[in-house]
Amino acid sequence: MATAATTSHPAPRGACPFAPPPAYQQAQQDEPVTRVALWDDSPCWLITRYQDARAVLADPRFSADAARPGFPFLTAAARQLSVGKTSFIRMDDPEHGHLRRMLTGDFTIRKTAALRPAVQQAADELFDRMTTGRTAADLVAEFALPLPSLVICLLLGVPYQDHEFFQRCSRTLLHRASTVAEVAAAQDSLTTYLDTLTESKRTDPDDGILSRLVARGELPTEEIGAMGRLLLIAGHETTANMTALSVLALLRHPDQLAHLRAHPGSTPAAVEELLRWLSIVQTGVVRVAVEDAEVGGVLIRAGEGVICQINTANRDDERYPDGDALDLTRDTRRHLAFGFGVHQCLGQPLARLELEIALDTLLRRLPDLHLAVPFEEIRFRHEMTVYGVESLPVAW
Ligand code: HEM
Repeated sequence: MATAATTSHPAPRGACPFAPPPAYQQAQQDEPVTRVALWDDSPCWLITRYQDARAVLADPRFSADAARPGFPFLTAAARQLSVGKTSFIRMDDPEHGHLRRMLTGDFTIRKTAALRPAVQQAADELFDRMTTGRTAADLVAEFALPLPSLVICLLLGVPYQDHEFFQRCSRTLLHRASTVAEVAAAQDSLTTYLDTLTESKRTDPDDGILSRLVARGELPTEEIGAMGRLLLIAGHETTANMTALSVLALLRHPDQLAHLRAHPGSTPAAVEELLRWLSIVQTGVVRVAVEDAEVGGVLIRAGEGVICQINTANRDDERYPDGDALDLTRDTRRHLAFGFGVHQCLGQPLARLELEIALDTLLRRLPDLHLAVPFEEIRFRHEMTVYGVESLPVAW
């Protein structure tokens, strides 16, 4: 890359906390494949348009393997995370596909649909505990975070009673301000925890995913532990933030909320539009070019890093007219909130089910749901890989 990078990554958000950084939306107009400087001043390509991001994510000339030279680490801690046993999200095919296929049967639409009664029951129990005899609560702590945590524990065979431990580790791993030492410690603790748990399934199996992977007899404990770590983190952080941020977005768009309440069957469509509009994986999806490749008319050389900035791509007016508008009735097909290509989110049917049930339960059972503090007091998670709110004080 010859010239110096002009913008930093991540860039700050502007006046609207739901919108992508204004600098990136501007880049989408002026220079859609642009250079940014990472935390260590290393240059990286930023892809801001929908078509370009989708093309990169579908292109095997762009690798997800963090061990490749030039792979762009978004923090010093992310580089630390790539040390040791990585999970298949940071591998290329055929290794990636080999491991992923061991799990695809657990996350099919049919298998996920069978979980509906259990997820609804968990949502109802959390809801009852949160609301009985009370008129206000923090929706993050009491509903949005425990629901997906409970579900992923159930699926994996992880004891939910350990939730404070693994939620704390995840937070450290996904926080930009965590030091390398903190990240290394969190990574070690979680690895030891999952390896020990996996070992225990050899003598004391249940019907969770960890036990099933052990029973296949194909993978060493540390490989199963790494898969468990990926699923445990991805399985609760993302959906938890998406739930709370969706509720907040709806409360700030009363017309859209009214539409959703008036059309009870429209929740799945609303979930898709919220996924597109919020695009919570705010730091984007990273790859490194393994061959020279042209993207949007720009030559990207082998060994150069790229970031597919999902939140700007998903608001690209060329793909979604008036993309900045939250419109629950729009055609949201092929949005990139779950990524695209071979690494497209494995857990998306589960995320959709959890979000649908969470929103339906809250909106159906709390017709007067509203914010308990002024909007300006809500603290957004600017420093986290996955965007959201720190807490969401609501009343009813
Ligand atoms: C709203 C919720 C969610 C969002 C927005 C989301 C987003 C994403 C994105 C953008 C990727 C692609 C990463 C890349 O290409 O490098 C991804 C991959 C992944 N997600 Fe999710 N995710 C969500 C929920 C979940 C859940 C509930 C699970 C598990 C139960 C999960 C498991 C995974 C896994 C295992 C991968 C790696 C897939 C692979 O490399 O083949 N995700 N997710």
